[in-house]
Amino acid sequence: MSKTRSVFECQACGFSSSKWLGRCPDCGEWNSFVEEKVTATPAAAAGKSGPRQGVLGLETGGRPHLFDEVDGAEADRIPSGIGEFDRVLGGGIVPGSMVLIGGEPGIGKSTLLLQVAHLLARMGGPVLYASGEESERQIKLRGERLGVRGGALYLMGETALERIVEQVDAIRPAALVIDSVQTIYSTRLSSAPGSISQVREVATQLLFLAKGRGLTTFLIGHVTKEGNLAGPKSLEHIVDTVLYFEGERQQHHRIVRAVKNRFGAISELGVFEMTGSGLAPVPNASALFLGERLEGAPGSSVTATLEGTRPMLVEVQALVSPTSFGTPRRMTIGLDANRTALLLAVLEKRVGLQLLGEDVYASVVGGLDVPEPAVDLGVAVAVASSFRNRPVPARTVVFGEVGLGGEIRAAGQAALRVREAAQMGFTRCVLPERNLPANGATREAGIELCGVRTLEQALEAAFGEG
Ligand code: TYD
Ligand code: MG
Repeated sequence: MSKTRSVFECQACGFSSSKWLGRCPDCGEWNSFVEEKVTATPAAAAGKSGPRQGVLGLETGGRPHLFDEVDGAEADRIPSGIGEFDRVLGGGIVPGSMVLIGGEPGIGKSTLLLQVAHLLARMGGPVLYASGEESERQIKLRGERLGVRGGALYLMGETALERIVEQVDAIRPAALVIDSVQTIYSTRLSSAPGSISQVREVATQLLFLAKGRGLTTFLIGHVTKEGNLAGPKSLEHIVDTVLYFEGERQQHHRIVRAVKNRFGAISELGVFEMTGSGLAPVPNASALFLGERLEGAPGSSVTATLEGTRPMLVEVQALVSPTSFGTPRRMTIGLDANRTALLLAVLEKRVGLQLLGEDVYASVVGGLDVPEPAVDLGVAVAVASSFRNRPVPARTVVFGEVGLGGEIRAAGQAALRVREAAQMGFTRCVLPERNLPANGATREAGIELCGVRTLEQALEAAFGEG
């Protein structure tokens, strides 16, 4: 006979306790404990107590193998047919992998996955698209907008995990899409769909299924207000790859970033445009982000950033205006706020810009998050440009990390950045001296290179002739 007991789990981090607590001792969240009824069956420990054999018939037993004996040949990646999606995944879909795609509601998760499912169904084996959010009819209507037609794409409006697994047994698909993991529940647990133990249970069972059968699985996950997937940590370590939709729903382009990837570089970006017929890849992201630049306006600079393996030019804008309150405001969009505050201090101390009585707003155009330190120089130049009310020459691009001593530090993959700038028609590049080519050349790919060692030199070079 199975015994039922209660545990209380923090919905923010998954910490469990035998009694209710007002504040989670693990993550510090208030009021996040929810009672979960646990039936003492093998699955009830919710994945916490070591491997769970027998779930879904997967036997992981057997002896260990010598390193050299293990078959290390990488399975061929399957192109999804959408170049930008393959790029974030690190060059195509790895068969049998589990990919989590997170994003705000309405950003385009279902759209992207339906497109991918459709292309996979036409090229590879059957694909099962199981949705707990929409009915088959609704998915069909969306599919018609996307031009879905033909191929072995099965739709299923279902919220019970066990019934989805049954259908996986029946159809034997090559890929499975779960839209979304928060709406699916397992009958093994009594708690509501979306609670942390359900989400974890569903993901773990699907992982066994994926690994046991070589079934490629895409999980769609909702992101909470704070920008976390509900039950974030527990899902992120279960899956192979985590992709997030980034940026604003109001903008017509969409950015998908890999934040974890067992099979490729992280920080890899895919750029899409939301059109009337689904998401269209944007291979030339620099052109998109520089598209609306007002040339010759003060307070703007162009910097070369690297996202994964892709160099990209972005515009950094700054607005410096006298503060009307006691404390000056500092606000950033797409940039690290602390790093920007630090840069302002360096500008003040090392270059002598009197920013103390000024509000400073800085942003990256286009809704992109640029966490890379190599954009420091771009921010510093934009701030100086606004402060002095003096534009940076339109064909000049800058990059480099700024240190607290006012020194300019080298950035990775400088040659890639320079080449991207040259391709976009820039003629001058202000970059860290250490990044100059080893042969001492001051030109590369038709672009003039100005190596600088300090922030002061950099500003001089950036505003110089061009
Ligand atoms: P959706 O994929 O439903 O978002 P999510 O699954 O992340 O919640 O996308 C919803 C938005 O995309 C919706 O506002 C309508 C828009 N959209 C288009 O602009 N073109 C299209 O072809 C489709 C299918 C949706
Ligand atoms: Mg959706």
